[in-house]
Amino acid sequence: MEAVIIDGKKVADEIRAELTVRIAALKERSVTPGLAAVLVGDDPASQIYVRSKARACEKIGVHSEVIRKPADITQDELMSIVRELNGRDDTDGILVQLPLPDHIDEMTVTLLIDPAKDVDGFHPYNVGMMLLGHPTLLSCTPHGIIELMRSYNIDPAGKEVVILGRSNIVGKPLGVMLLQKAEMANATVTFCHSRTTDLKSVCRRADILVAAIGQPEFVTADMVKDGVVIIDVGQNRIEDETAQKGYRLVGDVDFEACRKKASYITPVPGGVGKMTIAMLLSNTVLSAERRAGHLR
Ligand code: GUN
Repeated sequence: MEAVIIDGKKVADEIRAELTVRIAALKERSVTPGLAAVLVGDDPASQIYVRSKARACEKIGVHSEVIRKPADITQDELMSIVRELNGRDDTDGILVQLPLPDHIDEMTVTLLIDPAKDVDGFHPYNVGMMLLGHPTLLSCTPHGIIELMRSYNIDPAGKEVVILGRSNIVGKPLGVMLLQKAEMANATVTFCHSRTTDLKSVCRRADILVAAIGQPEFVTADMVKDGVVIIDVGQNRIEDETAQKGYRLVGDVDFEACRKKASYITPVPGGVGKMTIAMLLSNTVLSAERRAGHLR
């Protein structure tokens, strides 16, 4: 079997096209969706992420603002910025780029963000609502994975989904979303992590295998069964002197070997990564629509 390669860029483009229509409808009512990103310090990866998010906003007519602060900002100063953004009518989404420097307490900052503007879906209110199966702002990468599967008619209902990784950003929320009694869910979910015994045999049970552990090409062909759907969330930089930047991006899956056994597989780059920003835009537009509803 040779897998269908899931085209994250194509699906993300389709989502952006739908959002453009919704943004135009908002603008007719004098509402421009707005996203504010707070970037603390000079971590190169975070700078790239925030720049891409801002560019993606501008391209579809979402107003974007990046607030850059030095790594030695105090917790109080950062909290004041979030408080100010919570109160602003022109800001529908607030994103504090993680990780934050060690002296800042991430949870205290996340808790302060108005849950209605929490377009990352990281606030415990939104995480709790999601867990209980209530509509809410969903965290972007797991939501993007579900939208990718929807687009390729991969219905997880009744399937064995195995998730490698238990992060708060991807593994845990994705497993909970797929577990819900809802459409594009109803899966039987298993979480794996560094203490899982006999990882290989658990992975080989998977109808849908999600790799989100941050280890380059960790999933090898002997770990998957024929016909598996593979979702690769990894974005690992590995040194490559032949590449212009001196590195190349690889996922958590040995793509070339696994594509021969899988029915569907996401590439890196061009798979899940493209969806995260599309879902961030989607959450920002949704938040603006709720504001417009209140303005009516
Ligand atoms: N750091 C890595 N991924 C993310 C993300 O999706 N949102 C935020 N705020 N920080 C991140």
